[in-house]
Amino acid sequence: MNMPSNPLIINPHCQVNIEYLGQGRHKIVIADDFYQHPEKVLQLALELPYTDRFEIVGNFPGVRASINLEIQPIFQKISELWGIPLYQFFDPQPVVFQGITNKNYLLNIGQRQPHIDQDITAMVYLNPEESCVGGTGLYRHRPTGLERVPITPDQEIRNLADRLELSDEFLTSAEGYENFQNSMIFNPLFANRDNTYINEGNEYWELLKLIKMKTNRLIIFDGRCFHSQYIFPEQYTEAFRVNQIIYLSQKPKS
Ligand SMILES: [Fe+2]
Repeated sequence: MNMPSNPLIINPHCQVNIEYLGQGRHKIVIADDFYQHPEKVLQLALELPYTDRFEIVGNFPGVRASINLEIQPIFQKISELWGIPLYQFFDPQPVVFQGITNKNYLLNIGQRQPHIDQDITAMVYLNPEESCVGGTGLYRHRPTGLERVPITPDQEIRNLADRLELSDEFLTSAEGYENFQNSMIFNPLFANRDNTYINEGNEYWELLKLIKMKTNRLIIFDGRCFHSQYIFPEQYTEAFRVNQIIYLSQKPKS
């Protein structure tokens, strides 16, 4: 049987930079020239069928496609770059590509402000150099001063809840904590009013850093830090913005 060849070969000589973001010194790892043959990875990505079904994309403002290929070497490399073992977030976890276009798009309120992911997030930008613009923005929430939301409430969140004289219910159940996040942090009033990504920020969200999009650049960051696509409306009206998205966990799947 002819198996498709796997183009996801990591360049052993990728160039790594580590930065620390904000007051919390949250780590960001950037590895340039990540794949040995980025053009083959892009070609693979462009041949797949994409969907915008909510079960697949969630609140991501675009389309996704997946393929089952050996991905363990990528998890190993990302762990090595991040400095501690990281594990796949899903089991099984296919290779996932995603695309965004600004053609006839309408962002919902959650897409007009930063969001958080489940744990550690890695992404490889795949567009050719001539269509690389913008990138990924990281933000501070001005009303609370928070730069991230921990998976479970920590002392900073407890202090904030005390200051706001919130009842204990907000922090004692998963549902309460979600309500806390949706009301205090991702309040719809904090989103951009017009049909735009948060980009340079607004009166509620301060842009801390723009990680620039670059061909074949891997970025790894704490997905619990507030982040968003950084894309202006006039960009990606023709070509898609394409990347590989990899969700990781600091804990092995039990
Ligand atoms: Fe995200």
